[in-house]
Amino acid sequence: MTHQQKSAEDESHRALAGEVLRSSRRQLLCGTGVAAIAAVLAACGTGSGDGAKDGGDAKTNTPGSTSGSQPAGPLATLAEVPVGGGITVGDLVIVQPTQGVVKAYSRSCPHMHNPVDAPKDGVITCPFHQSKFKVEDGSRISGPATTGLTEVKVTVADGKITKAA
Ligand code: FES
Repeated sequence: MTHQQKSAEDESHRALAGEVLRSSRRQLLCGTGVAAIAAVLAACGTGSGDGAKDGGDAKTNTPGSTSGSQPAGPLATLAEVPVGGGITVGDLVIVQPTQGVVKAYSRSCPHMHNPVDAPKDGVITCPFHQSKFKVEDGSRISGPATTGLTEVKVTVADGKITKAA
């Protein structure tokens, strides 16, 4: 084998290795994407678990709420938010600590502003560095975050949750 042939063969191997690496990376990213989509779908599921009751019969307004001009469309229905737990909707985590009492918090973690997850067992957790917050008031339980989650006012009317004006 000549030096020139050896170089061409080495180049061919490098190109093949690069393609394999790129392909593996695509598969990994694709797999991660599928896992993320599955997590989102699971979060948007039936609201089972966490002691959830999907009664959907509570039509009372959050104490202190008022009707007024609302931004477009409801965020969720009361029936979609498990009692004692919650769901994520866009940049919000919507919780129902007790039947008919609904609160919402910004999902932006006070630590480094990554999005927190939907609550489990009454606790909202940031998956990035494990800061934990109470469902009841968004206050900090533990973790590197030094403050609680920021509350976002919502109202409930006719079983629909909307952002307060
Ligand atoms: S970004 Fe949430 S704990 Fe660090």
